[in-house]
Amino acid sequence: MRGTRGRASVEIDIFTLFPEWFQWFYTQRHVRNALAAGSRLECVGIREHTPLSGGQVDDTPFGGGAGMVLRVDVMEAALRARYGVDPMELRDRRRVVALTPGGRLLDDGYVSELAAEDSLTLLCGRYEGFDERIVEHFASDTLSIGRYVLSGGEPAAMVVCDAVLRKLPGSLGDAHSAVEESFSEALEGNPEYPHYTRPAEYRGWRVPDVLLSGHHERIESWRRERSRERAQDR
Ligand code: ADE
Repeated sequence: MRGTRGRASVEIDIFTLFPEWFQWFYTQRHVRNALAAGSRLECVGIREHTPLSGGQVDDTPFGGGAGMVLRVDVMEAALRARYGVDPMELRDRRRVVALTPGGRLLDDGYVSELAAEDSLTLLCGRYEGFDERIVEHFASDTLSIGRYVLSGGEPAAMVVCDAVLRKLPGSLGDAHSAVEESFSEALEGNPEYPHYTRPAEYRGWRVPDVLLSGHHERIESWRRERSRERAQDR
């Protein structure tokens, strides 16, 4: 079972200077499950498509300052090579998401939105980030996984793919677990209730009696209550 608005599969392209970083990611169980169920995850190496000599992809920022900025002509070449269209038109056909620390903050609602798409393109910046014209003219969305700066968008792309793919049916072993988890609609956007497993008592720390009662309605209402409490605490 899953949210009624979600799709069965999604095709994700990740534009990155470090496609090899994703090798490990592909080996993760739920990623493999999602791919086996029809989703697709491909990396496009931006450097492979640069029109500049010596594999150049970035440049110093106009106006001075530290660090390097990913060039707009290089990103355009990579997008054109992949899709065969002017990247300005691409965002009318699919969500093109620029990963940037100042972007729209990722939350469960944003993840569900992305998981409902047929196809997604994630653009990873490096060093100081993107030339702003990439964001302005090629991207449909910006996305931040938090208000801190990573040295590149790749870990953020993995976070997005992980969160999106686990919303798809067949990705998780127990299909129910993505429905009723933290911040989901089923929990009214609240954090998840606490879980316990065996032993029922450990060092004198007892599992709440209600969970051992076998009384499903009482368990359900206890869980809703804890979930609401956690929302208030945080
Ligand atoms: N690139 C660098 N930092 C980032 C962040 N916090 N979120 C998304 N992309 C990023």
